[in-house]
Amino acid sequence: MTAPANIRPANDAALAEAAAILNAGGLVAFPTETVYGLGADARNGRAVARIFEAKRRPQFNPLIVHVPGLSEAGQLVTFNPLARKLAESFWPGALTLVLPRKPDSGLSLLVSAGLDTVAVRAPSNALARDLLAASRCPIAAPSANRSGSVSPTTAAHVAESLNGDVDLVLDGGPTTLGIESTVIGFEGDAAVMLRPGAIPRETIEDLAGPLRAADGTISSPGQLASHYAPKAALRLNAKDIADDEALLAFGPDVPTGGRRVLNLSAHGNLTEAAANLFAMLRELDASGIARVAVMPIPAHGLGEAINDRLQRAAAPRETT
Ligand code: TXA
Ligand code: MG
Repeated sequence: MTAPANIRPANDAALAEAAAILNAGGLVAFPTETVYGLGADARNGRAVARIFEAKRRPQFNPLIVHVPGLSEAGQLVTFNPLARKLAESFWPGALTLVLPRKPDSGLSLLVSAGLDTVAVRAPSNALARDLLAASRCPIAAPSANRSGSVSPTTAAHVAESLNGDVDLVLDGGPTTLGIESTVIGFEGDAAVMLRPGAIPRETIEDLAGPLRAADGTISSPGQLASHYAPKAALRLNAKDIADDEALLAFGPDVPTGGRRVLNLSAHGNLTEAAANLFAMLRELDASGIARVAVMPIPAHGLGEAINDRLQRAAAPRETT
């Protein structure tokens, strides 16, 4: 798509429009103190799927959920004492905390790429805070650039990178920090550096004590173990189904038989399929089915990320 982006100077009218777009499942780019984010309602799986579509990211990486503060974050994730202390000290600000997702968080599973954890952050940028207040929704937002290009620090950068793939760009001027937030996870109650960022390690260590290194095999973002893997064995590109298999279907033409069928998108819509992917894999796992046949998924658009995830889920398990 090459339509120009709809850039709006930040004022009350633009803010109300941006909130309405988020509530209707659209995408809004907005400034934070670090970089511009590409935001969607974190509870709306279709809206979150559109983020990946707009970024043309061929993989589903877990996203940061932006909230006004600790009490709102506490409705989404479970804080350990150190995490609470860090949030009390650095929020609002450029610190992201990866914590266990609450079962009743209401968040799309796509937000955390199927993981049991969610990254949460309360931004300090005034416009970001106004948008959180006006929309009254948790906002999932990666940096507002296409995959592989640098993170945007002005509305013009966003517009150049995303063109018309974002419904509205709120222009709040250049961001003050210019690099992404520091991402901290936890192993038990010990803090782990997952991504260095705008708050220096030393500043966090003054409060938290020595941070563990992100052990590549366990907690480094983008590594195998940071991705959800189903227990069931997956058979990809299945055109038929065996009696002992469940079927993860796609599209209107579904083979009959098997133990159970869940359809990622009966209409063959890849955005809908992306929104359903992790929830359906989990539903099949929860039902205890050991073998799942997966119908072919087209390779274009979000199909690339869906296939990437399915291929990794189908690969022989590595123990970590
Ligand atoms: O400053 C920032 O953090 C910006 C602004 C918009 O808030 N956002 C940003 O998002 O940089 P993104 O999607 O580009 O980077 C999110 C980082 C990635 O390294 C991702 O792997 C990690 O956070 N992350 C998110 N959720 C995670 C999870 N559940 N477990 C482990 N890592 C996670
Ligand atoms: Mg990024």
